[in-house]
Amino acid sequence: MSERLEDIATAMVSGGKGLLAADESSGTIKKRFDVIGVESTADNRRDYREMMFRASDAMSKYISGVILYDETIRQKAADGTPLVDIIKAAGSIPGIKVDLGAKPLAGFPGDTITEGLDGLRERLAEYYKLGARFAKWRAVIDIDTGKGVPSTNSIASNTHALARYAALCQEAGIVPIVEPEVLMDGAHSIDTCYDVTKATLVKLYDELYAARVVLGGSILKPNMVISGKKSGKTDSPEEIAEKTIKLFREVVPAAVPGIAFLSGGQEDEEATANLNAINAIGPHPWKLTFSYGRALQAAPQKAWSGKASNIAAGQAAFTHRAHMNHLAALGKWQPALEKAA
Ligand code: 13P
Repeated sequence: MSERLEDIATAMVSGGKGLLAADESSGTIKKRFDVIGVESTADNRRDYREMMFRASDAMSKYISGVILYDETIRQKAADGTPLVDIIKAAGSIPGIKVDLGAKPLAGFPGDTITEGLDGLRERLAEYYKLGARFAKWRAVIDIDTGKGVPSTNSIASNTHALARYAALCQEAGIVPIVEPEVLMDGAHSIDTCYDVTKATLVKLYDELYAARVVLGGSILKPNMVISGKKSGKTDSPEEIAEKTIKLFREVVPAAVPGIAFLSGGQEDEEATANLNAINAIGPHPWKLTFSYGRALQAAPQKAWSGKASNIAAGQAAFTHRAHMNHLAALGKWQPALEKAA
């Protein structure tokens, strides 16, 4: 396939295909495995991810690319095939998480700053050799308005880091996914989410312009505009779609080929219904698809539960969610399709 950044970015978001975020750090995957009673060993992590990457229907029809963790991009399947080769054989693109996680922001209690810029040029060169053609960096913006979170400094520092990361990626021939995640964990309203997401994206695109990032060779991975989980309010997909698109039309340049949402703690079907509602009110200037972690993997994790005898069931559960999100990326999903399955 083409090595042009614009072509890779377009392939990542076209045809109703989306991204599988399988880049859980060792700490996060352990939390997921704890829920299903599986020990988090290197082999179990490999077996679990190999199961998804070998779900050939899902991978070839619905999944344009996979975000990997440093351990996984180096791992081989049980039969010795590099996992990266299994992904590529399905026609999907390997990608890599390159940030080193969110740490407390000095002087700003409650805010975090994502680290990982030091040595990034050299790490990107190695990941390119290992087969990665896109990367991900996640900035985390929490909302706790009573405590002044997020601060202006948190938004400025995190978006500046995203821009430095994105420029280094493009220099290395790698498409940057820029992910400024405004968390949905808080008690805030949907309108507060709108305001904080807007402030974050306005600053982000300022920083990306200043860093000379070529927007046509980048992908945005944002949250939807949605009420905080602790608010006790569930928004309709129509309200989420209307507010999310209103915001993006104001602040996301049309030069960006695609927007791939994170699921952020939404339930599986909720994440699908919301993406579908967003696409149903198109046409939009960018492709709008999924880059889901939890909303694609919760079902296969449960179905698999660490047993080799459950691999077919795990693959079926993964393929179903990938199919549903593929339809949502085209605005063609319906709740009845979930029941039919
Ligand atoms: P979730 O879809 O589980 O939010 O994960 C996506 C992701 O990659 C967060 O960085």
